[in-house]
Amino acid sequence: MKITTDYLILGSGIAGLTVAIKLAEQFPDRKVLVVTKSNEDESNTKYAQGGIAVVIDNVTDDFEKHINDTLLCGDGLCDRNIVEMVVKEGPKRLAELIQWGTQFDKTAEGTFDLGKEGGHSNNRVVHFKDQTGLEIERAILVKAHQGKNIEILDFHFAIDLMMRADVCHGAYVLDEKSNEIITIRSRFTVLATGGIGQVYQQTTNPKVATGDGIAMAIRAKAIIKDMEFIQFHPTALYAPNSVSTFLISEAVRGFGAHLKTKNGHRFMFDYDVRGELASRDIVSRSIETELKKSADNCVYLDCTHLDRIEFQKHFPTIYQNCLLEGFDVAKDWIPVIPTQHYLCGGVVVNRHGQTSIENLLACGECSRTGLHGANRLASNSLLEALVYAHQIFNYLSEMEVNLKETKVDFQDFFYRKGNLLASDFTKIIKEKLQNVMQQNAGIVRNDTDLKNTLKQLLAWKNECRKIEQEHSVTKDFLELKNCIEVSIPIVAYSLKRTQNRGSFFKEGKTINLQF
Ligand code: SIN
Repeated sequence: MKITTDYLILGSGIAGLTVAIKLAEQFPDRKVLVVTKSNEDESNTKYAQGGIAVVIDNVTDDFEKHINDTLLCGDGLCDRNIVEMVVKEGPKRLAELIQWGTQFDKTAEGTFDLGKEGGHSNNRVVHFKDQTGLEIERAILVKAHQGKNIEILDFHFAIDLMMRADVCHGAYVLDEKSNEIITIRSRFTVLATGGIGQVYQQTTNPKVATGDGIAMAIRAKAIIKDMEFIQFHPTALYAPNSVSTFLISEAVRGFGAHLKTKNGHRFMFDYDVRGELASRDIVSRSIETELKKSADNCVYLDCTHLDRIEFQKHFPTIYQNCLLEGFDVAKDWIPVIPTQHYLCGGVVVNRHGQTSIENLLACGECSRTGLHGANRLASNSLLEALVYAHQIFNYLSEMEVNLKETKVDFQDFFYRKGNLLASDFTKIIKEKLQNVMQQNAGIVRNDTDLKNTLKQLLAWKNECRKIEQEHSVTKDFLELKNCIEVSIPIVAYSLKRTQNRGSFFKEGKTINLQF
């Protein structure tokens, strides 16, 4: 099947849907097609607990404070111009989201209830209980469905970009239900495909986070950067028998919870004057150090001194989930460990969201804007997604969409129709990949393990190439191929990096002291 559209958006989280809604409203006679590989609401956005960092309290807060917090957290590698733009655009983009029907918690006085998270010098995180992402995704999906010229193709997996002479003309997409490959020709294509969490054994990301957009961009030879900066969230619930990882929001520490060793030592002040509210890289590394010292499996989050009713009101999902795992937060300490959470790098974009490939744009976690530097400040990711969706909208609003002018025909996708690949191969290699990345590309890395890992990744990449020649491949296989594709720069860039910065730490290297 062949489809033509004016705008093709890959991904249905906050970044992709915001671009789609804005374009569809501005150009009611143009077609906006959103392609998403699972349910339309399944993305990292849905699982965001914390909220959106934005300066709306003009009494105690100001743009300069938010800018400085972001720069400090990024450990000298942020682009100051981009930080300024994103922070200053924040209030306007938040207002739009509210206008679209998103709810945020208010105080008894009717002002926004602003939370505090690690690395922030002020309370500035707007949130909806501990379900901010779920609420945003709900509201923007309602809004997107109101757009008569937006079509959402769910359960459609983008395999590769349709490239000709270094220009992007759309994408090849697998219809997961019929197994048919659809060629989608588009004037502009936007990558909004999210993160890479499934590359690791322990991640807060959902199963869909397999780095698809970044992998497609790599194959299309787009410039990517900062892939070595992987953020580990300090406090995921330690539940070794659980199949998925549950996040205990940083907002819980902002609410007053203490991190302790099993002996009750409140250790964070040994590492940073900000204690539990130091930035994530510092808290995660401190926990890792404590665990190495004690040989324990986890540290603990103590909430027993906090008001139970208020806790339940602010964090209903966390409260319930802990209960289900056997922990009453009013009486028990919650066992926690650092877990992969966010990729700070990705496909390089300029301030309009343009990648190095013509007609290809990117926003959200798959993009590298320069906002995060070596470590993202908490709750800056939803903010970045909103601001860049708007930047892309502004840019595309100025551009012609007449497809005939491009004189590009549909190109068929080369696809071997052989025996279906046995699913065992995919499952076994995926588990091995997650294991090796967890062990060797985690919070603390070293060159020897990184070198061995790179060799193994390149061997798997070769194996995948051979398989593709001989078999009809499945979605699971394509996801594995993408996981391998994005793991290679994570490891290769880690090998190249000679200085420890932010979320990146390699044994034997110096810490940045310049900033
Ligand atoms: C959290 O709630 O701790 C996560 C928020 C974020 O990743 O910014």
